[in-house]
Amino acid sequence: MTQRLENKVAIITGASRGVGAENAKLLAKHGAKVILTDISDEAQKVADEINHKYGQETALFIKQDVSCEQSWTDLIAHTKAQFGRLDILVNNAAILHHASITEEDFAGWQRIMKINADSVFLGTHAALPLIEASGGGSIINMSSTSAIMGMPHFVAYGASKAAVRGLTQSVAVYCAQKGNKVRCNTIHPDGIATPMAMEVGMDLARKGKVVADRERSMTYICAPQAIANTVLFLASDESSHVNGAAITVDNGATIAPPYLPNPTSAQ
Ligand SMILES: NC(=O)c1ccc[n+]([C@@H]2O[C@H](COP(=O)([O-])OP(=O)(O)OC[C@H]3O[C@@H](n4cnc5c(N)ncnc54)[C@H](O)[C@@H]3O)[C@@H](O)[C@H]2O)c1
Repeated sequence: MTQRLENKVAIITGASRGVGAENAKLLAKHGAKVILTDISDEAQKVADEINHKYGQETALFIKQDVSCEQSWTDLIAHTKAQFGRLDILVNNAAILHHASITEEDFAGWQRIMKINADSVFLGTHAALPLIEASGGGSIINMSSTSAIMGMPHFVAYGASKAAVRGLTQSVAVYCAQKGNKVRCNTIHPDGIATPMAMEVGMDLARKGKVVADRERSMTYICAPQAIANTVLFLASDESSHVNGAAITVDNGATIAPPYLPNPTSAQ
């Protein structure tokens, strides 16, 4: 039986843990060759695990700082030399810290914008010609519900994820107009049970800044596999007409009116 990603080559950034590691494992399971990149060498272990499970040379780890332009030039050249093509780019790597508009400083703002937004520009800019030359493909950009809702504790992060959304729309329309068969979409999770969410949760708690009703916010938190499944759909040809979409994976977080009582809870 043909696999959903047979003969496809994918780059997944931030693949040492969390969503990126899940993406790499799932895309490999469905037949893709996966190039895992990360600033952390821990991604080598994920690549080893994939190769052990799905065969040697299924996964390759390349160390990369996604905010470094030269690293993208080198990565795309390496991909072309070793695999001859590129079909899927998942711009997943990002950082998160909490700071409101009065707490954030310019250095913090710039750091978040550099790693979360500049990186997506650099990656898309560098990878698009090779994806086009491969006959088309899919660019999947990790955004967040913070791009579409006001999150006062994450001022820079929300802005960086809104930048990712804006860039994605322009790239999607550019590709549609050019007819190059490249699609570009964003995924907007609320909370995901990953080290990123745990680390920021612990930091908030340590500083006595528990900002939300934990029970309530848990409703909207998903497992990383839920995001990886969405990435798989967008990476495959099954989503061939999905271009420029903002896919929320949030169990209704972005549409739930906070002021209405819950009709299903015990009175
Ligand atoms: N966890 C959440 O609640 C949540 C919610 C919405 C959106 N997201 C988004 O989902 C994506 C994955 O998040 P996660 O929760 O798996 O995060 P994570 O922190 O668990 O993993 C992020 C990975 O990115 C890597 N990374 C960080 N800076 C890098 C750099 N400069 N260059 C290369 N790699 C770098 C880290 O080493 C790590 O492996 C991110 O884009 C994040 O913003 C997460």
